[in-house]
Amino acid sequence: MEYRQLGATGTTVSSLCFGTWRFGRETNGVIETDRDEAHELLDAYADRGGNFIDTANVYGTPTGKAERYIGEWLEERDREQYVLASKVYFPFDEGAPNGSGLSRTHIRNQIDGTLDRLGTEYLDLYYIHRWDESTPIEETLATLNGLIEDGRVNYIGASTMAAWQLTKALWSSDVNDYEPFTVTQPLTHAAYFEDVREYLDVCADQELAVCPYSPLAGGFLTGKYERADPDDPSAVHAPDGSRGSFDEQFGTYYTSERGWHVLDAIRSVATETNASPAQVALRWLMDQEAFTCIPIIGARTTEQLEENLGAMELSLSDEQRSRIYDARFDADGNLY
Ligand SMILES: NC(=O)c1ccc[n+]([C@@H]2O[C@H](COP(=O)([O-])OP(=O)(O)OC[C@H]3O[C@@H](n4cnc5c(N)ncnc54)[C@H](OP(=O)(O)O)[C@@H]3O)[C@@H](O)[C@H]2O)c1
Repeated sequence: MEYRQLGATGTTVSSLCFGTWRFGRETNGVIETDRDEAHELLDAYADRGGNFIDTANVYGTPTGKAERYIGEWLEERDREQYVLASKVYFPFDEGAPNGSGLSRTHIRNQIDGTLDRLGTEYLDLYYIHRWDESTPIEETLATLNGLIEDGRVNYIGASTMAAWQLTKALWSSDVNDYEPFTVTQPLTHAAYFEDVREYLDVCADQELAVCPYSPLAGGFLTGKYERADPDDPSAVHAPDGSRGSFDEQFGTYYTSERGWHVLDAIRSVATETNASPAQVALRWLMDQEAFTCIPIIGARTTEQLEENLGAMELSLSDEQRSRIYDARFDADGNLY
């Protein structure tokens, strides 16, 4: 297992984090990962030396189920060996007037439930899952700072938001002497990079660790989807049982014209390196030079997990990395 420093923190994590978004989650009647499968996946990850686990209070159907699965698994393990990350923002109890967002009330209500379900006294990393337009960022940061001071949280992180919002939050921590965000979690992968370029520039400049979510574009960059219509990049032939076969949003959310071109380059590098496209796509992300990049991998089966962890054994040449990068531009140098 390859380990890395988690950005500017003093904590060491495996260079691929394991994500649990699909634990106990029901989509169109399909439960992707039940309790036994979740524990099998966590065993496979931990037995290979993986120590960095990503979850959120709202993962699972009903919400809280993913954290509960992890907590039950941890009962048989040494909690100190793992770096646990969870998140707050989205509604936990639908309809409650203070049941979402980043107010002092909601964060304080949620942290104890998260710790209780995970069966731990502290979280290594607590992310704000989104930016909250209705709560002043100072209120959120003061509350998170209190959680660090009272030992319930070690580090704080920020998931998807605009570059200016991240910058504002860092500035606010600085002038108020609050603990700053040290880790970020954007949607980014080989075919979705320019879209978050400014945000990534902030991370590089401020030495924030970047933990990309959906690093394989929900499975699209594994190469298992085929294009179904040359005029419509979102139309895919999806293998039975894959995310794309039951999630109606798959095509619009994960595919694009640019994505098909980048995937072609990833496939060509995979052939040359005797690796799979998933391994190449992950290695490409892990090799970012401007910031520490620790992708959060999702896997439905242990075979997928083993394959993805194999990205750690792969090395890409500068030319191969550039080929994947350059595939996003057409012959005139414009982005697809
Ligand atoms: N902060 C946020 O807002 C946010 C949002 C989304 C996710 N996340 C985090 O990021 C984690 C990863 O997200 P993700 O699941 O979308 O990641 P992903 O790696 O882009 O997609 C994972 C899915 O791709 C397929 N797959 C993975 N490896 C494969 C392989 N080797 N061969 C074939 N298929 C493979 C599997 O789906 P099928 O087999 O079912 O097709 C798997 O569930 C989540 O668990 C969560 O922790 C955070």
